[in-house]
Amino acid sequence: MEQIRTFIAIEIPASIQKQIALLQNRLKSMGDGISWVKTDNIHLTLKFLGDVSLELMQQVIEATKKAGVAIKPFDLEIKGTGFFPDSKRPRVLWVGCEENSGNLLKIHQNLDTFLSVLGFEKELRKFSPHLTIGRVKDQRKLGEIPHLLPQISFKTEKFIVSEIIVMKSQLHPAGSIYTPLVKIKLENI
Ligand code: 2AM
Repeated sequence: MEQIRTFIAIEIPASIQKQIALLQNRLKSMGDGISWVKTDNIHLTLKFLGDVSLELMQQVIEATKKAGVAIKPFDLEIKGTGFFPDSKRPRVLWVGCEENSGNLLKIHQNLDTFLSVLGFEKELRKFSPHLTIGRVKDQRKLGEIPHLLPQISFKTEKFIVSEIIVMKSQLHPAGSIYTPLVKIKLENI
């Protein structure tokens, strides 16, 4: 049966993706051993679903629509940098997201709730909204990055999040290919 690797995401404006690409370029001069996320691929993951059968996809789309009901568009600020799990054993490099209305967390909780009904596991960890900018392939080659990244004060202008996306992911050695399947508008009512 055909399966689609799926996640729910927020797309980032190209102007902000470009500012993140400049940050990545700065970091590239400080160390190595990282697979950098391609500029166009930088996004905010709300929930990763993994393989979804075509049979289930319509219900996933409906659950995602339901998760966005009564949530108005909101401002998001991209701010701060860090590592998962931490700078001693960095596996993921990220830039942070700040949001004051509570809508981002609410959408995440709604997705967890409505998608759990379809059999997708609820997230056990606290939601840490972030944009992954690089994945560590060889910790020995990181050079100055673990030391210097926390000293960089990264911040972009705010932007308005007005839709959430059901995204298809295809894994490729040269980088994943992400294709929006459905864009769900947040209503300003
Ligand atoms: P990330 O934002 O923390 O990198 C598409 O693969 C997106 O789904 C990635 O951006 C990734 O999150 C997220 N994701 C979460 N859990 C995942 C998993 N177990 N495998 C792959 N991607 C996952």
